[in-house]
Amino acid sequence: MNFDLGLLGRQALVTGGTKGVGAAVVAAFRDAGVRVITTARTAPERLMEGVWFVAADVSTSSGCAVVANEVKVGGGVDIVVNVVGGSSSPAGGFAALDDGEWAKALNQNLMSAVRLDRALLPAMLERGSGVIVHVTSIQARLPLPESTTAYAAAKAALSTYSKSLSKEVSPKGVRVIRVAPGWVETDAAVDMAKRLAEQAGTDYEGGKRIIMKSLGGIPIGRPSRPEEIANLIVFLASPRAATITGSEHIIDGGTIPTV
Ligand SMILES: NC(=O)c1ccc[n+]([C@@H]2O[C@H](COP(=O)([O-])OP(=O)(O)OC[C@H]3O[C@@H](n4cnc5c(N)ncnc54)[C@H](OP(=O)(O)O)[C@@H]3O)[C@@H](O)[C@H]2O)c1
Repeated sequence: MNFDLGLLGRQALVTGGTKGVGAAVVAAFRDAGVRVITTARTAPERLMEGVWFVAADVSTSSGCAVVANEVKVGGGVDIVVNVVGGSSSPAGGFAALDDGEWAKALNQNLMSAVRLDRALLPAMLERGSGVIVHVTSIQARLPLPESTTAYAAAKAALSTYSKSLSKEVSPKGVRVIRVAPGWVETDAAVDMAKRLAEQAGTDYEGGKRIIMKSLGGIPIGRPSRPEEIANLIVFLASPRAATITGSEHIIDGGTIPTV
């Protein structure tokens, strides 16, 4: 069966599209015939063919304004996928999280999406159509306290914001959806597994098992690949998912242990 997503000729903004999940989303959109604008702080060594890159730090107001302006110059977008997020907080639990760490987590994981949505939504509402995808995390429900309390709380705030936004704008034709990945085997995750393996005197698979154990196990026995997260996002952004809005789609190999 030829499963045409019906995305040919659409235009999408994907934040954080040079690595990990974001890069996979950019590639999947491009394969589906979508014209993509993407953004990161650092330009990649090799730009994907046909992808328009804007260098900006979307954890700041000014960075979001630069991106929003470029989108407008490019004629607007039908789809916004807010992928940027992550944590660089030190280990040490709550006591290691000063105001600066909290602000960093909130700016990167919540305000980047809030500010870009606020700038780009008016044009979508005027047209009466559009899709916004927020990449959250299972940590919003399954927080890990060692170094990611602020990240988990920021993702939970992103999730609640997203739900409220969906109630406001879905009646006006704009769908708002959340995708909550569990552990994803990005390049950064591979490096972390290798580091842990070295410390524990084991191999890469052993390093992966250490991470999976810290999550309470992954029933399918492996992390997701970035492409698998991208496939879900691209489907949800497509007209095939026209009646899906306001929902959160967990993709975690069964990690969350409760209903
Ligand atoms: N990996 C996982 O296991 C996992 C699990 C659950 C949820 N998630 C979520 O999935 C999303 C993607 O994660 P990932 O692991 O694929 O990330 P990643 O590999 O660290 O890539 C992050 C991307 O975002 C860009 N970026 C980071 N901060 C930025 C900023 N302030 N402004 C503009 N661009 C920025 C990076 O480029 P520059 O560094 O050049 O800016 C890069 O392109 C995040 O929201 C993360 O919270 C990931």
